[in-house]
Amino acid sequence: MAGAWRGSLRARLMVGVVLLAAVGMVAVNAVSLVGLRLNLVDVADTTLAKTRQTLQHRVHSRRAPIDEDNLNSLIPDGAYIALVDARGRVVAQTPARDLDGRPRARPDLPTPLPDSFADHVVTLSAQGMPVPRYRTLAFSLGHSATVRPTPGASPQPFSRVVVAKSLQPAEDAVYWLIGADTAATLAVLGGIVLLSRGVLGVGLRPLRNMAATATAIADGDIDQRIEVARPHSEVGEVGTALNRAFDERQRSEEQLRQFVANASHELRTPLTTIRGWAQLHLHGLAQDPALIERAMLRIEGEAARMHSMVEELLLLARLDQGRPIAHAPVNLGALADDAVTDARVVAPGRPITAEVPDEVFTRGDEDRLRQVLQNLLSNALRHTPPDTPVTVTARSLPDGTAELTVTDQGPGMPPATAERIFERFYRGDESRNPTSGGTGLGLSIVKSIAEAHHGTATVHTTLGKGSTFTVALPATR
Ligand SMILES: Nc1ncnc2c1ncn2[C@@H]1O[C@H](COP(=O)(O)OP(=O)(O)O)[C@@H](O)[C@H]1O
Ligand SMILES: [Mg+2]
Repeated sequence: MAGAWRGSLRARLMVGVVLLAAVGMVAVNAVSLVGLRLNLVDVADTTLAKTRQTLQHRVHSRRAPIDEDNLNSLIPDGAYIALVDARGRVVAQTPARDLDGRPRARPDLPTPLPDSFADHVVTLSAQGMPVPRYRTLAFSLGHSATVRPTPGASPQPFSRVVVAKSLQPAEDAVYWLIGADTAATLAVLGGIVLLSRGVLGVGLRPLRNMAATATAIADGDIDQRIEVARPHSEVGEVGTALNRAFDERQRSEEQLRQFVANASHELRTPLTTIRGWAQLHLHGLAQDPALIERAMLRIEGEAARMHSMVEELLLLARLDQGRPIAHAPVNLGALADDAVTDARVVAPGRPITAEVPDEVFTRGDEDRLRQVLQNLLSNALRHTPPDTPVTVTARSLPDGTAELTVTDQGPGMPPATAERIFERFYRGDESRNPTSGGTGLGLSIVKSIAEAHHGTATVHTTLGKGSTFTVALPATR
C-alpha cells in the first residue's frame, strides 16, 4: 500500500507542488534576509558618517580636555569610539565594560593605527572573537585636541578618531528573522500538504471512478459506462474516449456473436438434412433404389453447400484479419472478359456481354478480384429470370478510379432489401429457399475484398428495372 501511494499520481503531484512552494518560499526569504542585512549595514554606515560630522564639529569648538564622561556623550548609544594620537596609538577609548559591569567587546584595531586606516567604512571583528563585527570609520580631526583618559591623569593629545558601530543588533534581527521565516515556511508547507492532498483527492476522483468502471466492465458488467461530468476537460476527454472504446468493443463483440450464431444456424440446416437422409437409410426405410439415389444426391448437394459456406467463412475470417493482400498489377478488363466467358458456359441461353472500352489496371490480388466478379455474376444469374440480359464493364474514370460494374435488367430490389444485401448472411425473401443454394455471404465477401483493396462496393437498383453493382478501386497505370 505504501509503495502504491509513493508511485501514485497524487503523491507525485503533491511532492511537486510542495517542492515548488518550498523552493519559492526559500528564495523569497533569502532575498528579503539579504536585503534586510544590507539595509541594516547601510543604516550603520550612515550613523557613522553623521557621527564623524558631529564629532569634528564638537571637538573643534572645545578647548578643555575631553574626559571619559563626555567621551561617551560624543557618540550615539552603543557605538564605540577611540581617540588616537599622532603616532597611531589609542590614548582613550570606550571602556571594556559597560555601566552594569558586563564585558563589552571592542573592535580589533591594529596598533599602531596605519595612516589611512578605515578612511572608508570597513568591517572589523571584535577583539579575540569573530562576532560581533563592527562597521568602523577612522578620520583625522585636522588639528590636535586633548583627552584625560582617567580622572586625574594628565591630558594627552590626539588627532584622529575611530568610531565603530556593532553589527550585533543587525545580525540579531537577521537571525531572529531566519528563525521566524523557517517556522512560517514549515507551517505554510504543512498547510499546502494538507490542502493539496484534499484538492488533488477531489481532482483525481474521476480517474479513480474510471478505473472502477473499467474494472467492472472487465469483470463482466459490460453495460457500465464512465460518467463524464465535464466532457471538455482532459479527464473528460479520456472518459469520452474510453466510453467510445467500450461501445465499439461491445458492438464488435455483438457482431461476432451474431456472426457465429448465424453461421451455426446456416450450417445446422444442411447437417440436419444430411443426418435425416442418413438415418432414413440406416433404419432400412429407404429400400427403393430410386429413393437411395435421391438421398445420396441430397447428401452430396448439402455437403457441397456446406463446403462452399465453410470456404466463404474462412475467406471472410482472413479478410477480417486485415492482413496485407498481394500487390501485383491486375488487368481488370481481362478479368471481366474471363468472367463473362465463364458465365456464358454456365448459362448458355442468356445474353451476357462484356464492355471494356480501354485498358484498366489496379494493384491487388488477382484471385480475389476474380472472385468479386464471379460472385456478382452468379448473383445476376441466380436472382434474375433465365433470359435477362447481363452486362459486365471495366473502365477507368477521369478521377483515377477503376470501376467494375455488373448490370442486369432483372426484377431489382426494394430499397429496404438493397440496404441490407451487403450484410453477412442476409438473403432476400425470394432467396430464402434453402435449395436456392445461396449462403447470403457472396456480397459481404465482395465488400470485404473491395475494402481490402482500398475500394468500395455499392448497388444501384430500381424495382422492376434491374440492378447495377459497382466496385470502385484505385486505378494504376
Ligand atoms: N442481381 C440481383 N438481383 C436481385 N437481387 C439480388 C441480386 N444480387 C443479390 N441480390 C439479393 O441480395 C441477397 C444477398 O446476396 P448474396 O450476399 O450474394 O447472397 P446469396 O446470393 O447467397 O443469397 C440475395 O439473397 C438477393 O436477395
Ligand atoms: Mg450470392
